[in-house]
Amino acid sequence: MKDSLLKEVDSKGRNPVSLTIANGIAVIAINNPPVNAGSHPVRAGIVESLKGCTSASLKAVVIIGEGRGFSGGSDVKEFGTKLLPPEVPDVIRAIEQHPIPVIAAIHGIALGGGLELALGCDYRVGKSGALVALPEVLLGMIPGAGGTQRLPRLIGKLKALDLICSGKRVTSEMALSMGFIDSVCIGDLLSGVIHFIEDNHPLDKRLSIEQSVPVDSESELNAAIFKIKQRNKGRENISEAIRLVQASSNDHAEATLIDERQTFNKLRLSEDAFALRYLFFAEKTASRIEAINDTKATKITYVGIVGGGTMGQGIAKAVLNAGLKVVLIERDSESSERAFQAIKTSYENLEKKGIYRPDQVQNYLDNLSSTVGFEAVTECELIIEAVFEDMQIKKALLEDLDAIVPRATILATNTSYLDINQMSENLKHRERVVGLHFFSPADRMKLLEVIRAEQTSESVLATSLAFSKRLGKQTVVANVAEGFIGNRIYAAYRRRAELLVLDGACPYEVDKAIKNFGFAMGPFEVSDLSGLDIAWAMRKRKASDRDPNERYVTLADSLCVAGHFGRKTGQGWYSYQDKTALPSEFVKTLINETRTNQGIEIQNYDESEIQQQLLVSMVNEAACLIHEGVAQRASDIDVAITNGYGFPRHKGGPIYWASQQDPIHLTKILQQLSNSVGHGFKTGPVSEIVSFLTQKGGQSNA
Ligand code: NAI
Repeated sequence: MKDSLLKEVDSKGRNPVSLTIANGIAVIAINNPPVNAGSHPVRAGIVESLKGCTSASLKAVVIIGEGRGFSGGSDVKEFGTKLLPPEVPDVIRAIEQHPIPVIAAIHGIALGGGLELALGCDYRVGKSGALVALPEVLLGMIPGAGGTQRLPRLIGKLKALDLICSGKRVTSEMALSMGFIDSVCIGDLLSGVIHFIEDNHPLDKRLSIEQSVPVDSESELNAAIFKIKQRNKGRENISEAIRLVQASSNDHAEATLIDERQTFNKLRLSEDAFALRYLFFAEKTASRIEAINDTKATKITYVGIVGGGTMGQGIAKAVLNAGLKVVLIERDSESSERAFQAIKTSYENLEKKGIYRPDQVQNYLDNLSSTVGFEAVTECELIIEAVFEDMQIKKALLEDLDAIVPRATILATNTSYLDINQMSENLKHRERVVGLHFFSPADRMKLLEVIRAEQTSESVLATSLAFSKRLGKQTVVANVAEGFIGNRIYAAYRRRAELLVLDGACPYEVDKAIKNFGFAMGPFEVSDLSGLDIAWAMRKRKASDRDPNERYVTLADSLCVAGHFGRKTGQGWYSYQDKTALPSEFVKTLINETRTNQGIEIQNYDESEIQQQLLVSMVNEAACLIHEGVAQRASDIDVAITNGYGFPRHKGGPIYWASQQDPIHLTKILQQLSNSVGHGFKTGPVSEIVSFLTQKGGQSNA
């Protein structure tokens, strides 16, 4: 019997919940594509369906998801609005009060409210490999339907805090070993659940909310809480999650569930939650280009990587981790062997740490070869060059490849700054060239800028977007420009940081101010970490293009002349002793002397002025990029800067941040930036871009 119990259908006329009863088992199926989000018709449908499962002969009620997974959680769009009853806690109450045991049958994903619904069931059976998580903290909230109370009762506070405060996904198998899934099955899920019911007949009602919280070591718990707080300074939702998980061991379950819901309702309307929801949708939009939506991507199975240095090795691991084959090409056999060994060692180290199983590492290494010469790459569908950042070397390399590899092979460059149009100007098949700008370390950094050159074909672009997705990257598409989106904005930010120092701030105050805003590192710490010599080499290369009338800060050049390249030389903007960064006397003297020589009138900046000047410098450059057509959308820039440059996600990105500021104040700071640079300062259409974002929620072309 397949019975449409629901009177309510969705906008497409579908019934999002159906009930089937056969052989003493009732199956409530959620059908709300694409991810079975728990939107209002689904919640109402489950409650209605439960009312239809009253026969005393029923052995169990099974809640299952149709399509790709159990449930991707609540509908994110609903979080910013008034929620219609029944809300998820009402659905769970109906499950708990139902006389017949209810089983959640989980495949694909059970996230957020989806997992909370499952935790409210009497039993959970997972399909092998299904992924479960409570990712609400990643959207500025906390689990609001009992997750902070039921999960600790099943697995203890320590493990619950780890899952709730990180939002990380674990497989059914891991959830089984932790204790919040009762059984894992391979093959058909419903058959697995029926076996589970038969094996455990008769099933009892078993409410997780009535269980007592397993006891963890107090000292381990305190140490874990300390670490979580350190990592999430100033994040109200994390403090609230900790408070509520701690409260799960009190004797007032009902009152604590109400407290949790009230806290969730307060947090879902907080500034952080609005910013993170904005970013959630911005990230989904960033990998789409309207014009090529119907263009088919070519399948990539074998990737050639030319250049096995820092980036080549990282890119190779990113590709191998996605299950694809890689051949690495180096200049000579010694370099080729060195690159292979470095990748092998890196995997072996991860195996020692328990991150990979030995068979996984063996698989990755079986898929990797490294050699000299281009013979092997003729079989690849995609070749990515990651050789030295030098136009002539890259040009010659692409021309060689263009002459020998099949016409369908895509040629990608990982250049950080160079003009890809110029790089490919002599190729016969320029339409096959694209930029794939990975970030270091390429196997771990989420951002991938896909650079569309003038002649890049739509099919090459569509394939690049699909490839990026296959690698699990966050794609942002840019057109050709010096430094594309991310590096160009970062360069403006770094220049402003140095100007602030020349005009009166101290580098350590600048780093502190931006870290207090939420960045993980300050601009001077970042320079020391990546090495001052790299940017110096670029500045020297471009010295002849510099406008002599523009203000130019020489401090970093002077440090390089003195051999102070940052961490690697023990001296940079900081002085390093046993890896501890201390203020450098050399830097203080250098700054004072430079100010005196240039007759600088020293100014005082407080923390908020430093933050605002740095942020507005990013916003201004972003506005220029949109104006020049380098970026498609304002929100793409926020996606790039939050995913690749450590901008705090809960502030939404530089343009979203600007959209929350007083426009008159923004204009005033922009004017200050322009005055302090004087000649050559390019003012972008900041207020236009920001007001566009405010009106459109950042989703449309700007
Ligand atoms: P690297 O100096 O570590 O590695 C370059 C490798 O290319 C060397 O191992 C060299 O032997 C090899 N090579 C040079 N010419 C070759 C040729 N003709 N055939 C085969 N191999 C050749 O440089 P890195 O840092 O890996 O940078 C590579 C590219 O990636 C550059 O274009 C750089 O701008 C870009 N990039 C670098 C990032 C970084 O953080 N290091 C970040 C993003 C992009």
